[in-house]
Amino acid sequence: MFEALKSQFKKIDGRKITSLFADENRATEFSLRSGDILFDYSKTNIDAKTRSTLLDLLEASSFYQKRTDMFSGAKINQTENRAVLHTALRNLDGHLIHVDGHDIMPEILATLGAMQTFSEAVRTGAYTGQGGAITDVVNIGIGGSDLGPAMAALALSPYHDGPACHFVSNIDGAHIADTLRAFNPEKTLVIVASKTFTTIETMTNAKTAFDWMAKTVQDPASQFVALSTAADKTAAFGISAERIFGFADWVGGRYSLWGPIGLSLMIAIGPNNFKAFLRGAQSMDQHFLTANPQDNMPVMLALVGVWHNQICGYHTRAVLPYDQRLAHLPAYLQQLEMESNGKRVNMEGEDVSYGSGPVVWGEPGTNGQHAFYQLIHQGTQIVPCEFLVAAKGHEPNLGHHHTLLLANCLAQSQALMLGRSLSVARAIVAAKGISGPKLDQQANHHVFEGNRPSTTLIYPKLTPGMLGNIIALYEHRVFVEGIVLNINSFDQWGVELGKELASALEPVLKSGEASQDQDPSTRNLVKFIRAQ
Ligand code: F6P
Repeated sequence: MFEALKSQFKKIDGRKITSLFADENRATEFSLRSGDILFDYSKTNIDAKTRSTLLDLLEASSFYQKRTDMFSGAKINQTENRAVLHTALRNLDGHLIHVDGHDIMPEILATLGAMQTFSEAVRTGAYTGQGGAITDVVNIGIGGSDLGPAMAALALSPYHDGPACHFVSNIDGAHIADTLRAFNPEKTLVIVASKTFTTIETMTNAKTAFDWMAKTVQDPASQFVALSTAADKTAAFGISAERIFGFADWVGGRYSLWGPIGLSLMIAIGPNNFKAFLRGAQSMDQHFLTANPQDNMPVMLALVGVWHNQICGYHTRAVLPYDQRLAHLPAYLQQLEMESNGKRVNMEGEDVSYGSGPVVWGEPGTNGQHAFYQLIHQGTQIVPCEFLVAAKGHEPNLGHHHTLLLANCLAQSQALMLGRSLSVARAIVAAKGISGPKLDQQANHHVFEGNRPSTTLIYPKLTPGMLGNIIALYEHRVFVEGIVLNINSFDQWGVELGKELASALEPVLKSGEASQDQDPSTRNLVKFIRAQ
C-alpha cells in the first residue's frame, strides 16, 4: 500500500491543490465533523483516490484489533508488558474495564473523588498552610508530569478561580529559584508529580523546594502532595497518605494528564470544570470508537500526517494554534508525537520500513507569522501546517481582536495554497516605479510558489470540554499513526542512554577527573567547565 501511495504521489507531485477545487463539493467532502469541531483537509493534495488508498493502508493494519485491545486493557505496550488505559481515566460512566482480571474502575473513580475532595479543601481554604489559605500551587514535574498540566492550565486560564498555579520542570536551578522567589512558603502548596518518583530533575527540585519551605514552615511535608505510581517511594519522602494520589503503570507519562497528574489543573479550575474536560475527552473516545474511518477525525488526521511525512517526504509538521492560550500545545504535542512515534524499530524489533513519526514544532499565530512563516511560505522545504483556531474568543469586549485573529489564520492557509505568480509579483514591483532588469530581479523575491498543504481544525470556543476533545483527538491520532507504521507508541527507550551518561558524568564534573572512558570532545568540555 505504501508503494501504491508513493507511485500516486509521483503522478500528482506538482499538481495544483487549487485544481482539486474544480470539484465544487471538495471543501465539504474533504472536511469532517466530530461534535462541534470541524477538521478541514481540503487544502492538501489528497484526492479521492489517495484517500481511499490511505484508508486501505489502515484496513491492512491491525487498527481495529489494536483499538479494541487498547480500550479493553490488553497489554499492547509489548516492550513494557503493560496495558494502555489513559482512556479509563475519563471513563466517567465507570463501565467495567479489566486489567489482569481485575476491574480497575472503582479505584480510578475513588482517586478522582479524593482529588476532588482535596482540591475543594485547597480552594475553599479548609486545607491551609502554616500561614493560612493556599495562594500558590507549584507543580514540580517534567515531561508528561509537567507538559500536560502546564499546557491545560494556560489553555483554560479563563476558568481559573482557585489559587495560582505554577510549574517547575528544568533541573536548571534558575527555574525553581525564579519561581519560588515570589511566594510565601507558609501559603504555598508543592505538588511533586512523577510517575516513577525517581526522575532526577523532579527529585532534585522537590528536595530544593522542601529545604526552601523548611526554613519557615515547621512541618514542610504537610504542605507537600505526591502524584505517582510508586507508593513506596512517595511514603519515603515523608508525605502522608491522604495527600498521595496514585495511579497505575498502564497510564503512560505523556498520557497522564487525565488522572492525578492533573491535580494542579483541578485546583485551578475546580472539579466541575475538570470533569467537563474529562467528558470532552470521553466524547472524542466515543467518536474514535464508533465513526467510520473516513468520518473518523483521529483516523483522518493520522492518515493526512502519514501522507505528508512517509509518502510526500515532508518530514516536519508545524502545529500553529491561533489561541494564545494554546502556547504550550506545540511543546505538549512534541512529547506526545515524538516520544511516541520517534522510533527506528517496529513492533517486531526490525528497522521501520517507512521512517518514524515527524518532527513536530510550532508557536501560536500570529506571533509565528512575524518569525518563521517566511520559511514556510518561501523556503525550499515544504512544511505541512496544522492550523487550530476558535471561532469565538473569551473576551467579548475585544471582538475586533478576534476578527483579526481569524482573518490572519484563514489568510495563512489561503496564502500557502494560492501563492503569488511571477506576473502578479512583476505588477506589484512595477507599481513601485521599478522597471528594466531590476524589475525582474526584484519581482522574483515577491513570488510565492504556493501549493503548500495545510489543514485547519476549527471549534467554537476553547472551553474545558473542547480542550479535552482536542487533546484526546491528538492522542488517538498518534495511536493510529503508530499502528499504521507498526511502531509501539507507548514506550520511550530512546530517553534512557542520555540519563545513564548524565549519571556517569555528574561525578566527573564534581571531581574534574575525566577518565579515558570519556571521549576527547567531552573531556575537553569538562576541562573548560572546570576552568571557570
Ligand atoms: O524521560 C522521559 C520520561 O520518562 C517521560 O516519558 C515522562 O513523562 C518523564 O520522563 C517524567 O517521568 P516521571 O513522571 O516518572 O517523573
